[in-house]
Amino acid sequence: MPTHHFKHVVLGLLMTQGLVHLEIQAQSKQIPIETRSNALVLEYDSTKTLKMRYYGEKLNDAKEYSTIASGYRQLTDYSGLSDAAYTPSGSKNLLEPAISVVHSDGNRSLDLRYEKHEVKNLDANVKQLDITLKDPVYDIYVVLHYKSFLNEDVIEQWATIQNKEKKVVTLEKFASANLTLRSNAYWLRQYHGDWAKEMQVEEAPLTHGIKVLDSKLGTRANLFQPPSFMVSLGKAASEDEGTVLMASLGYSGNFKVDFEVDYLNNLRIIAGINNYASNVKLASNQDFTTPKLIYTLSTKGKGTASRNLHNWARKYQLLDGNGERLTLLNNWEATYFDFNEQKLKGLLQDTKKLGVDLFLLDDGWFGNKYPRNSDHSSLGDWQPNRTKLPNGIATLVEEATKQGVKFGIWVEPEMVSPKSELYEQHPDWVVKQPQREEHYFRNQLVLDLTNPKVQDFVFQILDDLFTKNPALAYIKWDCNAVIYNAHSAFLKDQGAFYVSYVEGLYKVLERIRSKYPKVPMMLCSGGGGRVDYAALRYFTEFWPSDNTDPLERIFMQYEYSYFFPAISTSNHVTDWGKQSLKFRTDVAMMGKLGFDIVVSHLKEQDLLFCQQAVKDYDALKGTIWHGEQYRLADPREGDFAALSYVNSQKTEAVIFNYLVNNRYGIGTTDPIRLKGLDAQKQYRVEEINLYPGTKSSLGQGQTYSGDYLMKVGVNPDLNSNRPSVLLKISAR
Ligand code: GLA
Repeated sequence: MPTHHFKHVVLGLLMTQGLVHLEIQAQSKQIPIETRSNALVLEYDSTKTLKMRYYGEKLNDAKEYSTIASGYRQLTDYSGLSDAAYTPSGSKNLLEPAISVVHSDGNRSLDLRYEKHEVKNLDANVKQLDITLKDPVYDIYVVLHYKSFLNEDVIEQWATIQNKEKKVVTLEKFASANLTLRSNAYWLRQYHGDWAKEMQVEEAPLTHGIKVLDSKLGTRANLFQPPSFMVSLGKAASEDEGTVLMASLGYSGNFKVDFEVDYLNNLRIIAGINNYASNVKLASNQDFTTPKLIYTLSTKGKGTASRNLHNWARKYQLLDGNGERLTLLNNWEATYFDFNEQKLKGLLQDTKKLGVDLFLLDDGWFGNKYPRNSDHSSLGDWQPNRTKLPNGIATLVEEATKQGVKFGIWVEPEMVSPKSELYEQHPDWVVKQPQREEHYFRNQLVLDLTNPKVQDFVFQILDDLFTKNPALAYIKWDCNAVIYNAHSAFLKDQGAFYVSYVEGLYKVLERIRSKYPKVPMMLCSGGGGRVDYAALRYFTEFWPSDNTDPLERIFMQYEYSYFFPAISTSNHVTDWGKQSLKFRTDVAMMGKLGFDIVVSHLKEQDLLFCQQAVKDYDALKGTIWHGEQYRLADPREGDFAALSYVNSQKTEAVIFNYLVNNRYGIGTTDPIRLKGLDAQKQYRVEEINLYPGTKSSLGQGQTYSGDYLMKVGVNPDLNSNRPSVLLKISAR
């Protein structure tokens, strides 16, 4: 290379890496979003491109945010867009975009420049920053919204895309958030699964290129993959160390999260609705609002990140998150479809005998022309089956009231069986390709919730149940099928189908909640096929999995616990698994307790144990539901799991300990260090939930200082004779 050429190249590099930086620094403006511990800093310069500069611990002096950019000596950012806060496509962008549009004139380019921003203090804890970006050429606006929760260190991020052109604009990609993180390595913790295998975890470093987590299932969208994940910076974060971003997309349909490690070694995360087979057509002056990406950053490991999300969820998202929940007896595994009024009346008495709050009548109570005696028919025909229930639901609700328990019922209102009166009467309400063979998931099809008439029908199912039975106290809302042959007889534009379906679902749930704001509802989807924070706005709890084998549940509940608080997690004691009744009950107590067993078949001691367990649970549930959670031992890293909940006054804690390995001689050889207690307080440690006739090997009621319990710990003495141990810790 001739010398003058070489000089040119070097000068060029210096320009881009050094001088230009200085210039930008001089003219750049920062918009920091500060929460208790962190700051997410957005920045724009004279080019008005909005970038994400920083997400980390907040600085004492906000003026220093402007210096951050100059510390990076990365390669040339050719487009100046690699860390854009919302990356457009079709203009200079070279990487994965957050938004792609087709303008009304067919042009596919978009450029977005900062126009203005506004910060609203919604209350002392919550702020909302709205930043308006605009294309200098076309009348397309994007407003980026960042709702920040000071004490919880949580941000909800979403976008509103506005078409101010004169004609229709098509959105081909329309992400909720576009984050840029900077580190030398990124570790993604992600989940996959299937029926009864929810929340299987994998954690690995991200390499250059794009990794995608997504769903194309339409309904039951999380069957293979949930929209929750975490990314650690540098190395995989542990419970108490490391920097970790924990995030979850609040969306109940197809989602997509792109993780792009770019040529500058930055990680770009683009999360939102999946644009697979979908676009959004915006008429002139119409807006589209994306769902929210909810995230928190912790520089102190995964424990803090989880507690941030739990606190945020209970206070701001989960329906009645700070409220109470009902313990229950469910009849699904006890009877399946085989029951009648008399049998159910017996179960109502069993509910009372067990000491739980509510009886939940599961699948099988409806359908007359086609009685629901198996999962091959009747979905859609929501009239009580006259053979099984000659006096309808009302008599059962009355009987429950007489017994002093509450009554709840299972519905699967989004679905239709091909063998049903509903299908015969309204074939056009069914999602299917008119010219193709039907393909079933669990022998059923999905109703077309894009159609307002179908929305009315689904609302009516619930409204009728409540109107006819005002004392009805609980709903289990199931959703067992995915969408095959996605096609709506109602929609003109099939590209709108997936997005409109979820909009339709939310419309129905909105209507139900405006009329019945507080009735507890369980979000179920053939197990954990729909566990997301947007749905949990309408539901008080979710069903993590049909797999209730307690060993499996320890692992699943542990992973769910990263993202969702215990009060939202329904756990039932069933006959799955080989473990003792005590083991099964202890595991179910680590959340919202229920039973799905034949109470009348219980041996006397077993019944006594369950009754005592319900009482113990009632005494501790406030701490489990509303306390701070600390994971103490990861079942994937050793032979046991330990998890604790500490109430806000730090006067009570409950510690769940389980052996997850039954090899010879396995047990807790060392004490387990507790967390979150008050070092100054004295605590009494007591083993509870003992099976009748057994004694604790710990000696009851030893007292230790919080200091000791957190520095040295307590040994629950887990071993093959004591595979599950519950400890209650109370301040003296
Ligand atoms: C799904 C649910 C179960 C049960 C059955 C009833 O599989 O996850 O809990 O309600 O449906 O058919």
